[in-house]
Amino acid sequence: MSRKTITAALPYANGPVHIGHLAGVYVPADIYARTLRMMGEELLFICGSDEHGVPITLRARKEGITPQDVVDRYHKTIGDSFQDLGISFDTYSRTTSAAHKQTSQEFFSNLLEKGAFDVQVSEQYFDPETQQFLADRYIVGSCPKCSAEGAYGDQCEKCGSTLSPDELVNPKSALSGAEPIKKETRNWYLPLDRLQSEFLNEYIGSRQNWKSNVLGQCKSWLNDGLKPRAMTRDLEWGIPVPVEGADGKVLYVWFEAPIGYISATRELRPDDWEFWWTGDSEVIHFIGKDNIVFHCIIFPAMLHLRGDNYCVPSQVPANEFLNLEGQKISTSRNWAVWLHEYLQELPNRQDELRYVLTAIAPETKDSEFTWKDYQTRVNSELVGILGNFANRVLVLLQKYNNGVIPEVSDQAQAWMDASNYSWSIEDLWSKRIAPIAQSIQEYRFRDAQFAMMELARYGNKFLADLEPWKKVKEDPEAASAVLARAVQILYNTALAMEPFMPFASQRLLDQLNAQPSAESKKAFWLSQAQTLAAGHSIAQPSLLFQRVEDELVEQQMAKLQASLAASAAAPAASAQPATPAFKPMIQYDDFAKLDLRVATVNHCERVPKADKLLKLELQVGEEIRTVLSGIAQHFEPEAVVGKQVLYLANLAPRVMRGIESQGMILMAEDAEGKLHFMCPDQAVNSGAGVA
Ligand code: 2FM
Ligand code: ZN
Repeated sequence: MSRKTITAALPYANGPVHIGHLAGVYVPADIYARTLRMMGEELLFICGSDEHGVPITLRARKEGITPQDVVDRYHKTIGDSFQDLGISFDTYSRTTSAAHKQTSQEFFSNLLEKGAFDVQVSEQYFDPETQQFLADRYIVGSCPKCSAEGAYGDQCEKCGSTLSPDELVNPKSALSGAEPIKKETRNWYLPLDRLQSEFLNEYIGSRQNWKSNVLGQCKSWLNDGLKPRAMTRDLEWGIPVPVEGADGKVLYVWFEAPIGYISATRELRPDDWEFWWTGDSEVIHFIGKDNIVFHCIIFPAMLHLRGDNYCVPSQVPANEFLNLEGQKISTSRNWAVWLHEYLQELPNRQDELRYVLTAIAPETKDSEFTWKDYQTRVNSELVGILGNFANRVLVLLQKYNNGVIPEVSDQAQAWMDASNYSWSIEDLWSKRIAPIAQSIQEYRFRDAQFAMMELARYGNKFLADLEPWKKVKEDPEAASAVLARAVQILYNTALAMEPFMPFASQRLLDQLNAQPSAESKKAFWLSQAQTLAAGHSIAQPSLLFQRVEDELVEQQMAKLQASLAASAAAPAASAQPATPAFKPMIQYDDFAKLDLRVATVNHCERVPKADKLLKLELQVGEEIRTVLSGIAQHFEPEAVVGKQVLYLANLAPRVMRGIESQGMILMAEDAEGKLHFMCPDQAVNSGAGVA
């Protein structure tokens, strides 16, 4: 077994992560790393935030803050939420670290010295108003492939095509909306055309055991013929190009981001970091399908050019995409289930999410998350099968034998042998545990989790067929023997659960009063089922999983509908500020249903762990109303107190972060996206009607 460097795609620090990221990348990567760790393999599990790139600067401009402010905020949100979900990275670093600047500049300089780059002077788009070159997402236009409006200079989000700014039809600056001009600039190109024949055809052609979706995409790139690609950009935010006279230029984000895996290793293991990236180390990248070309073609080409015994990726188990309730997940339309919100709104349900996302993981094709399916899987599989099995074994053992694992008498064994269950601990391993390990090692996590659940299904059937609750009256020894075997199935189920559902696995081990050693965990996966000795006392049982009630599904669906309505009403994000489109005509009766009031803000505070929300206490006539408003990034709480606001008093209340929001305050949004209160021109009595 060689040492393994397992990486998970560095998420962009321009927003939080959602369930699509989790199902595609982070949950499968964690299952893999946890299993291999239990097997005793030597490995590092590496991730961090991708903190450069144009989307970050665009977001900073929109919010009127610095790019560093943006990445500081999301690095923390993302890192904390991964940790809370039990994603067991050995390090969660970031590409604005000093180690990363040093490592990526050294990497660039090393390739430069080797003569790996072609320097080309070319004409690039330039914004005459902001006096800036327009790379990647700084330029928008119509997609040449599908004609969608709003395609970016590097990608069309509608059809997924990778683009270059020159391909856009009717290009416009995303900064000013101006028509760009062409201006000469010098950049360093990776000669991917030469590298294709020198290295990449052979590298991709000889990949065995790679997933067909990954190889298919790579081969299609190679069939089209690779073109030189610029590894530098004329931008301010990024890692300066370490060449004299290259002021105002930074490393292309897709050049330095994958080097971020190496920098994170260097930070974590200053003494032996290179060891993890050279020689016979195996590098395994967990990514989503939109990252395939960068991890399977560009990064391997860079590592190949670097030489010095650096190893190229040995596996890239990329997944397809997850859809949500029949639609593509969309950050801009807020059509997503955000991890940090899930963790706040559904506390102690981390494993439920991990389980459902693994059950529906988009391993071979796009797949679909729905809240109804989440409810069904949790209630009928986790509660109904796994939780039920655990509870039955533990409760019966307490009831019939004071929680002590009984000895199995020869007579009871003979009776059991005569039943359909020719129990053997060897069979338990070879037929039921080894297949889980094998599926994980082959990156088939859905199958692996299904096989893990088969242990519980088998346990339930074992109990149902041998009926210890009936047997106990006529033959208590036989009933004890059934429980003595069932508890071993349960113990092995708890061990098998660990990579998939680490929290529930630990809860079950606690209830079994078991503390398996590292040796025992290793043997569990590699050679034999584990047992708890006769005479071992278990702890008090409690329910392993909570049911998902209809109310939870309804709340989550209402939240999604609300974001859809909000995004339909919000001005479309475009290069040119536009007046929002008019909504369809309504009758006076529709308008008359709205109870609009002037209210006075008595008190205002931030909502803990919700970076967008302020909690306002409003005086509305005699009444005090509480309203949560998504304006925390626009106003300090103190600045809001005392203001008179326009208040919609009869909007059905909604619970957010455990607080009931009673109605809504109305704001105006200007062309820059700044919000303004709708105040009366002079103070009026609080609660005054608006008509
Ligand atoms: O697609 C993304 O979210 C990228 N930030 C992934 C980068 S992976 C690596 F190269 F850093
Ligand atoms: Zn397109």
